[in-house]
Amino acid sequence: MADAAIVAKGLTKVYGKLTAVDHVDMRVATGGVFGLLGPNGAGKTTIIKVLTGLSDITEGEAQVAGFDVRRDPMHVKERIGWVAAEVILDDDLSAWENLWLQAKLQRLSDWKGRAEQLLAYFELSDRKKDKVGQYSTGMRKKLEIALAILHQPEVVFMDEPTIGLDPNTRRMLWQLITGVNREFGVTVLLTSHYMEEADALCDHVAIIDHGKFVAQGTPSELKARVKWDIVELETKETVTEERLRAIPGVSEVRTQGKSWILKVPSAEVALPQIIAALGSEEVKRINLEKPSLESVFMEITGKRIDQAGTDVQDYRKFYMNVRRARQ
Ligand SMILES: Nc1ncnc2c1ncn2[C@@H]1O[C@H](COP(=O)(O)OP(=O)(O)O)[C@@H](O)[C@H]1O
Ligand SMILES: [Mg+2]
Repeated sequence: MADAAIVAKGLTKVYGKLTAVDHVDMRVATGGVFGLLGPNGAGKTTIIKVLTGLSDITEGEAQVAGFDVRRDPMHVKERIGWVAAEVILDDDLSAWENLWLQAKLQRLSDWKGRAEQLLAYFELSDRKKDKVGQYSTGMRKKLEIALAILHQPEVVFMDEPTIGLDPNTRRMLWQLITGVNREFGVTVLLTSHYMEEADALCDHVAIIDHGKFVAQGTPSELKARVKWDIVELETKETVTEERLRAIPGVSEVRTQGKSWILKVPSAEVALPQIIAALGSEEVKRINLEKPSLESVFMEITGKRIDQAGTDVQDYRKFYMNVRRARQ
């Protein structure tokens, strides 16, 4: 087996005037969990579509599971699984019937043992005859993953696997995805717009914005790029921006809603100085944020991922002002 499960060079997808994926180079190690992280519309799903052969590549090349996506699409399809962002289960069928249907679709002959093994792994064995319409969201997700790996693929693509799930179910799913990767030896490429999810799950992350990879690395490598902490502060009205700026150890100040957002090289150093400068009676609330993938995204693109696309201009303006104030 090759050491890379996915290799892409200059991968590009153009829809009319829009370049949805823009000259992306990527390499996903065999056995790894690779996360494509970015806001809505960044091009994550499109990358999955071109790598799985669901959509044509406009320019560039890609190999998946050792085969060229353009030249050998069938060989690729045999070796990959796909968990779509939308639910694809048939509610009127039981779990077993859904697995049977999947086997039919893929013309698998010897699938029953594997299906039983997967149902046991996902703790669905005693519910396998129940209609999927009666399943909880978590159970449905488990079954979707079981369908995707029924044919023992080398690589499985999961598009926003935890979107719309409550926090508990999401965490349960993180464990399952890690488990599937380790126990079944499947390479996972997943997309997400939840930074903490990528941090918890992925050994390698690519941050994508407007179709381009803007950063890549392990979550710790990416976080090491951010050299500052964030202090979020709620104060009485007597506190002004000038006063905050004058505090030693505070690099930048801006407002966000009712709060101040301070960029500091070290929260541990800045915190006592902030308290000393303002006095505890002027501070209503104080909150520390250590570097996360969220701050990496912010550092690189100048926007928060959850509001990405909306307030870039404001954010740039903020930094331009900071720059001018320093001159
Ligand atoms: N079939 C399509 N035709 C035209 N534009 C598309 C099509 N699919 C996606 N797009 C556009 O390509 C960009 C990337 O979309 P997508 O890959 O779905 O982003 P993400 O999955 O990161 O939210 C978006 O601007 C989207 O509107
Ligand atoms: Mg998408």
